[in-house]
Amino acid sequence: MLASPRLVYLLKFAGPALIVVWLVAYMVSDQPAYNSVVRQFKSERDIFITDFLDHDVGGQLDGSSISELCASKTWTPGLMLSCDPQSGGFGQVKDAHLNCIRFAIEAGAELVLPRIIKRDDKNVANTRPKNGGGPYIGEFIDYLFDYEYLNQTLSEHCPQLKLYRSMNELWDVPQVQSARKISLQDVGAKLNGSVIEDMNTLSEQIKSYIDRTEDPETRPFPIRFRSDVISSVFPTAYGNPELAKNFGRLLRPRKDARVLAAIALYNLHMKYQLNLDPKQGFQHSTFPGLHLRTEADATPIFPPFDEQVSTLVELVTNSTAGFAFVATGETEERRRKLSKKAEAVGVTMVYKQDLMLDEPEGRELLEQLTWDQRALVDYEIMLRAGLTVGLSGSIFDWNIALRRNSVPGADGEPPSLATSSPIQHQDRYSILLGSSEKADTLRATPPMPDIVG
Ligand SMILES: *[C@@H]1O[C@H](CO)[C@@H](O)[C@H](O)[C@H]1NC(C)=O
Ligand SMILES: *[C@@H]1O[C@H](CO)[C@@H](O)[C@H](O)[C@H]1NC(C)=O
Ligand SMILES: *[C@@H]1O[C@H](CO)[C@@H](O)[C@H](O)[C@H]1NC(C)=O
Repeated sequence: MLASPRLVYLLKFAGPALIVVWLVAYMVSDQPAYNSVVRQFKSERDIFITDFLDHDVGGQLDGSSISELCASKTWTPGLMLSCDPQSGGFGQVKDAHLNCIRFAIEAGAELVLPRIIKRDDKNVANTRPKNGGGPYIGEFIDYLFDYEYLNQTLSEHCPQLKLYRSMNELWDVPQVQSARKISLQDVGAKLNGSVIEDMNTLSEQIKSYIDRTEDPETRPFPIRFRSDVISSVFPTAYGNPELAKNFGRLLRPRKDARVLAAIALYNLHMKYQLNLDPKQGFQHSTFPGLHLRTEADATPIFPPFDEQVSTLVELVTNSTAGFAFVATGETEERRRKLSKKAEAVGVTMVYKQDLMLDEPEGRELLEQLTWDQRALVDYEIMLRAGLTVGLSGSIFDWNIALRRNSVPGADGEPPSLATSSPIQHQDRYSILLGSSEKADTLRATPPMPDIVG
């Protein structure tokens, strides 16, 4: 609904050629010769954008572990689960939605996809704007995610799981208009911290709780259970690594944000003559991607603006790239402040807005997106950086780091970046800064690493 008019608009400026390529890719993909002939007639830019959209970082999602999980469950016809809408940014909402999808799979239930509470764009610190006192309804899942991709992927790899985009699809099913509450505590799941301790018994616990509270012989058919928002309860990091690697990829940013990221990355690639090939995911030695997390909604877990600016400037001071991409939802005024400090050490800070300067339509579309939707553009660009530096308190940055770390080896050396800040996590492609004591004291940190990248 939200996606469509914008997407149509986007496709217009991304070029009709793009549509041709999609047709070629999806309808005649068994004719590679034809494909390559068509490619000859398209601009380098169109090819770059198409390659970006067709080639996710790390290649196609491998759904075999999801298939195995779904095949191992007992599915109960007429049993539905829904979860309350989540508020907050991409990382937070993604975490909650993935947990809800996993809950439905464990329950062997049909799933009404959770919705998303839109923050107040005029005051981004307000993630749950007043709504007249009633329950939050929220936006469709399409507000942040690519619903078609989710639906397609799940119907391929978890056909047992029947999906509803929202309660709207069930308007004519009176039995499910109201719901019984269910929680993991209710079913007796034992938690270690926030994480479920024993996954082997969970499905059985859920089933027996449901049958105990609502006798299968006499209960309405269908019947809906409703869960509060749940986050970071499924033990991904300690579970099947293939599942941990792929499950989070069910939720991919919505298409228009990915198209904007493709355009932005193409412009970055041209401006700095990067050797970027979107078919190859990311190359090590291309560009550093840094996260400035100081916006109005940043909790005290994140260092204040001046401190983060100093950290970023220190990081790039002796870097060989001469520029860095900065992901941030900061105001133009504060972006300029950071840029000025970086210029003093000879480094250009590049923001997504800068990469749209010669793109009137792209710029307009970026401005039309909400604050959280614009963050998706940053996310997609960061995924393709040579090295990213984020903050350990940011679930957004954990998403980026874990997602990138699941990608097979990239060539070359990463851009050199040095820091005197404490490093909480470091892998081949990402650094997360921050001290754990501060994080622990403030209790604002997501229970890492139990999130799916
Ligand atoms: C979801 O996927 C199923 C199976 O491929 C398909 O029949 C259905 O039309 C899809 N729904 C939407 C809204 O795309
Ligand atoms: C709880 O989780 C921690 C890791 O976060 C682990 O070290 C500990 O052994 C777990 N406790 C139990 C009882 O499983
Ligand atoms: C940059 O390199 C110079 C020369 O090697 C060194 O003295 C300086 O401390 C470095 N600065 C940072 C911030 O890494």
